[in-house]
Amino acid sequence: MFADRLQRLGTENAFKLGDHIARVQADGRMVVKLNMGEPDFDAPIHVAAEAKAQIDNGNGHYCPPAGLESLRQAIARQVSETRGLDVDFRRVVVHPGGKPSIAYTMLAYVNPGDEVIYPSPGFPIYESWVTFVGAKTVPMRLRESDAFAMTADNLAKLITDKTKVIILNSPANPTGGLIESKALAEMAEVVCEKAPADVRVYSDEIYENIIFDGLEHASIASFSGMEEKTLIASGHSKSFAMTGWRLGYVVLPTIEEAEVFKNFNINTISCTPPFVQEAGRVALESPESAAVIAKMVSAFDERRKFVVQTLNEIPGITCVMPKGAFYVFPNIAEACESIGAIEAFNNLSVEKQEKSSPSTMLQMFALYKHGVATMDRPSFCRIGSEGEHYLRLSTAADMEQLREGLSRLEAAVSDVAGFADFVAKGVPS
Ligand SMILES: Cc1ncc(COP(=O)(O)O)c(C=O)c1O
Repeated sequence: MFADRLQRLGTENAFKLGDHIARVQADGRMVVKLNMGEPDFDAPIHVAAEAKAQIDNGNGHYCPPAGLESLRQAIARQVSETRGLDVDFRRVVVHPGGKPSIAYTMLAYVNPGDEVIYPSPGFPIYESWVTFVGAKTVPMRLRESDAFAMTADNLAKLITDKTKVIILNSPANPTGGLIESKALAEMAEVVCEKAPADVRVYSDEIYENIIFDGLEHASIASFSGMEEKTLIASGHSKSFAMTGWRLGYVVLPTIEEAEVFKNFNINTISCTPPFVQEAGRVALESPESAAVIAKMVSAFDERRKFVVQTLNEIPGITCVMPKGAFYVFPNIAEACESIGAIEAFNNLSVEKQEKSSPSTMLQMFALYKHGVATMDRPSFCRIGSEGEHYLRLSTAADMEQLREGLSRLEAAVSDVAGFADFVAKGVPS
């Protein structure tokens, strides 16, 4: 029934894990959910008030497909000020959430066989679209020893004359890694020297406001020769805790490319709800927003310190301190070994191995038997991830839940007999 191309489309397991969580809850057990990537805050009150007023005023009709000029102007100003650029608002395209521009980028620039470089571990939707359009996947391995930041050296090794798109993400999901200014400057040089002239860099900056330790957000678009090659993507989901509002945007290198993205909007979503866009404009422009963001970031900061310290006290787990976003990405290699997950994985049939990993088995065990939901390594760009043993925990939960979740995880990784029994009965998939 289905088209062949469907086999090449991936998914985002953070959403799919919901079915497993529901099964555990249906057994009457409470689950501590550390799996979802959304702030546990609500949209700022002044932003919600604007949306309500807009609805009351009847601003709920079709509107321009590229986005309202008022919002596109506000985005152009914000991006210009924060990245030291001079962005014409006609280069801005608005869409629902941060995902559409990932798809549009693949559809607009990449032919089958072209190469796309993307971070791994990385946001799963990158790899999903790269394979969907039939491109050659070129995962850039992020190393724990580099605090999961991309480096110019790593990038240089992957660029060829077939490289069409390079995806960057800083601060990053799932690792919290940050590419600091100096590294971005070096990467910009590498791109200008080594990549084909028409290469495009998709710079996913959706966590731009969630950065710790006094570090600052930087964009590769700010460096010499890069504005004309870079798509700057961001949105309101993370910075303003507006995940369900669906508001994202991208700044294209040229107006001509923005017209192509506008046409993708026309062909798919027509337009983004205008009352959401006006509220999103207020989020960007209101002087009240900075304090709301600062409060949220300070909560994430306190939690990441607590979570990293607690994880490092659990035998078999080590965790580097993230510099941004609201995730931690502990190394669970020793825990996988000591609980028997490596051996159990090696005993699986090749068919089952393709859909699992030691971290997946431990993730399922922690959820089904100890009531804590986390994400496994293969959920963040699977290709070539064999032998890497990590979990992602979201710190978008209050301290009480984090404390409880970590204590459940600690109980899980030392429950050798429970794990053997769980595996013997068959790990749910
Ligand atoms: C790196 C990254 N890019 C894009 C998105 C998509 O965000 P949205 O919910 O606005 O579609 C996410 C969401 O988790 C993300 O982590």
